[in-house]
Amino acid sequence: SLDTKALKEKILQLKKERNAVILAHNYQIGDVQDIADFTGDSLELARKAANLDADVIVFCGVDFMAETAAILSPEKIVLLPAADANCPMAEMITAGELRVLKERFPDAGVVCYVNTSAEVKAESDICCTSSNAVKVVESLDAQQVIFVPDRNLGSYVARFTDKQIMPWEGFCFVHDRITPDDVITARERHPEAEVLVHPECRAEVVDLADYVYSTSGMINHVCRREKKEFIIGTEVGIIHRMEKDCPDKQCYPLSENAICITMKKTDLQKVYNSLESLTPIVTVPEDVADKARLAIQRMLDIK
Ligand code: 13P
Ligand code: SF4
Repeated sequence: SLDTKALKEKILQLKKERNAVILAHNYQIGDVQDIADFTGDSLELARKAANLDADVIVFCGVDFMAETAAILSPEKIVLLPAADANCPMAEMITAGELRVLKERFPDAGVVCYVNTSAEVKAESDICCTSSNAVKVVESLDAQQVIFVPDRNLGSYVARFTDKQIMPWEGFCFVHDRITPDDVITARERHPEAEVLVHPECRAEVVDLADYVYSTSGMINHVCRREKKEFIIGTEVGIIHRMEKDCPDKQCYPLSENAICITMKKTDLQKVYNSLESLTPIVTVPEDVADKARLAIQRMLDIK
């Protein structure tokens, strides 16, 4: 609509004035993805956030992503346009709970998914994302690995390593409620399609899939393959990227219910307001940030 177009132009103008860069996760609504400078998965966005020449980062995603950007770029203003955009999975483990676990298994390595608070990162040896979790676990000397908070990603990683993975019982409600029946029904509807799922899905769903990828891994796969049809087992917002990047392909959501409400809280108006007022700013206390940065940097150092 005209309003949307006008708002987009105002955002781009204000972005220049503020010397800001807009980062958007692959689950953001289409309009927000379209005004972003970079769209990507958690690892790509963390790498970007570490290497930006800008005064302001507008993070269109959820809180832990903006926190990671703030930890990596303490000299920049990091904005989270939707102040209440949290990740329920990240709230499933606290730093105190992780400390108790570390006391019980003092020789274990500690890997935390980036979907955690800065305090949990500060208690961890190294972070991982869905695209590098196996490599990260393999990079540790320890034979036992405390893996928090996602039990599904933990059990996925356990398939590819001889190390003993001890997963926490957290999960992503968006992926955890996808069922094997969803895969069977989708394959009946689209018998020619390949099934791609995210490793936050349950093991029994992973078992029925053709491929397992991070969100950007899925986009790359769809664009690269000669196949024309794909069933996409992750948050539905990602379909927008596929329609843009590879319009000749057909992508069907594995589940229409796979919607992350907090990822949808960011809209153009909030992005504009945020750039205008330079709020809400995301900050991490320096002592926590210094420790969390080590865990994040160790991850980024793995190629
Ligand atoms: P990736 O984009 O890194 O695969 O992460 C998925 C996710 O659930 C982020 O919250
Ligand atoms: Fe968290 Fe899942 Fe939403 Fe990602 S999709 S932000 S893991 S609740």
